Amino acid sequence: MNRILVTGGAGNVGGSLAKKLTANPDNFVVVLDNLSTGHISKLPDAAQYPNFKFIKGNVNSLTDISSVILRYGFDYIFHYAAVVGVKRTLENPAKVLTDIQGIKNVLGSQEHRR
Ligand SMILES: NC(=O)c1ccc[n+]([C@@H]2O[C@H](COP(=O)([O-])OP(=O)(O)OC[C@H]3O[C@@H](n4cnc5c(N)ncnc54)[C@H](O)[C@@H]3O)[C@@H](O)[C@H]2O)c1
Repeated sequence: MNRILVTGGAGNVGGSLAKKLTANPDNFVVVLDNLSTGHISKLPDAAQYPNFKFIKGNVNSLTDISSVILRYGFDYIFHYAAVVGVKRTLENPAKVLTDIQGIKNVLGSQEHRR
């Protein structure tokens, strides 16, 4: 069983990927998303797929992401959680910069697990 985390999995790219990965019963897929721009409708159907779990959380919070990574011990992580788009970036320049913390949190938590 491959244990896979998709951050931003309620968004366009992450949601498509999570659905594709969940369709394979050899995968156990967890999506972490804060639903800031994403939507539940883009997630795989948890009632249909017992190998799928959604967790609402903020990847830029070390507490949120490290607890998920330490709990599940992922083999693979796809990191798509971000404030995306030119308009959103121009409207929230400081918020976009905090996404760098999300990358640090993902890499640091996974490294710590090993
Ligand atoms: N869409 C494209 O054509 C495209 C092309 C190349 C690269 N990308 C990259 O792929 C990634 C995803 O893009 P997208 O188009 O799917 O965007 P999207 O806005 O549809 O998805 C981003 C998801 O991340 C979530 N999110 C945002 N901040 C978060 C946080 N702090 N914690 C948890 N979840 C958070 C949002 O709720 C949303 O579901 C981005 O890094 C983007 O730059 C996208």
